[in-house]
Amino acid sequence: MNAISRLATVISLASLLPVAAFPVSTLAAESKGSVEVVHWWTSGGEKAAVDVLKAQVEKDGFTWKDGAVAGGGGSTAMTVLKSRAVAGNPPGVAQIKGPDIQEWASTGLLDTDVLKDVAKQEKWDSLLDKKVSDTVKYDGDYVAVPVNIHRVNWLWINPEVFKKAGIEKPPTTLQEFYAAGDKLKAAGFIPLAHGGQPWQDSTVFEAVVLSVMGVDGYKKALVDLDNKALTGPEMVKALTELKKVATYMDADGKGQDWNLEAAKVINGKAGMQIMGDWAKSEWTAAKKVAGKDYECVAFPGTDKAFTYNIDSLAVFKQKDKGTAAGQQDIAKVVLGENFQKVFSINKGSIPVRNDMLGDMAQYGFDSCAQTAAKDFLAGAKTGGLQPSMAHNMATTLAVQGAFFDVVTNFINDPKADPADAAKKLGAAVQSAK
Ligand code: GAL
Repeated sequence: MNAISRLATVISLASLLPVAAFPVSTLAAESKGSVEVVHWWTSGGEKAAVDVLKAQVEKDGFTWKDGAVAGGGGSTAMTVLKSRAVAGNPPGVAQIKGPDIQEWASTGLLDTDVLKDVAKQEKWDSLLDKKVSDTVKYDGDYVAVPVNIHRVNWLWINPEVFKKAGIEKPPTTLQEFYAAGDKLKAAGFIPLAHGGQPWQDSTVFEAVVLSVMGVDGYKKALVDLDNKALTGPEMVKALTELKKVATYMDADGKGQDWNLEAAKVINGKAGMQIMGDWAKSEWTAAKKVAGKDYECVAFPGTDKAFTYNIDSLAVFKQKDKGTAAGQQDIAKVVLGENFQKVFSINKGSIPVRNDMLGDMAQYGFDSCAQTAAKDFLAGAKTGGLQPSMAHNMATTLAVQGAFFDVVTNFINDPKADPADAAKKLGAAVQSAK
């Protein structure tokens, strides 16, 4: 059974269960309506960003019901969302990404009408790159509003720690990365802050695949799911390098949240972290300045590529008119120029609006965000722009789960063999397709 029919089967059970009434009675008398928003933006920096949206929606007269579900990468939030849908009680709005949006839309639970007028009035089609708008449409209709664009293939560096360890410049090749790791180790620092959760393991895996296999190889293996690319010699080489990268990972990082690992780099205990630019939200929240207190560089060997991760808020069908008005308000706010600026500055991302990406300095974005926007626009022309597998942009959740299992087992098994792991990867992905 493919992923879409799997989700559809689960969801169709919902019709057998009583539909939970929307808690209209809890609305404040003066509220224009209430919208519950399910998301996983719960770290300090992420919360600062989502609070910008909440404040604006409340200012517009709606009641914001916060449906935050902790857990980086969102797999816990997705589990909660599925059980809410099965119980016939989906929230008005939920953070869903990539091909998963289409999968949800195919169950009939997403609203294909509610965003029509806003999208037309606000000219979303011309504001957004086609890659972005295609992600949030189902059969030509918007079923989600894109919020921001994250780059995933970053390396975050504490320059003071580098200096103390005698490292002169950020690594640009895997060999330089290992050399830096060795110096950090020798100087008593954690070389690579890393939380050993499956999505974090796969964030590192895809960066290494990109570095070793290049953009074409990355696309064949992680986007097209080509069996030869998944099991071939290049993948074996990537897995061999991944095992080496793993030797620099934080020994206390097993099961650790990404933001707690980011804090180790911020506080000078660790030298580096491989993480998408939501990591910057933690540096920003700690009042650190890009280019001075920390460095952001593309993961070694990937500077011509940009693995993207677009956060989006999908709209679920609701019976209540106030909720529909609230969903429309959220959508309108989200693509507004001011929100795009303030949210992304807090979140570490870049705007989704094309008109803003071309002139980032004007909006007060820092050097990391300016580089990201430049590389995003360049990557759109050269093909260097590729969807992140680890962040639900390239495949369905079922296929992503297959990657996660093989990669995490490989990292944790001291006897793991790269050639054997590549075979397992091919088999697991083919059966999850
Ligand atoms: C990503 C998400 C980001 C950030 C990160 C850590 O998947 O797109 O917005 O929240 O997870 O939780």
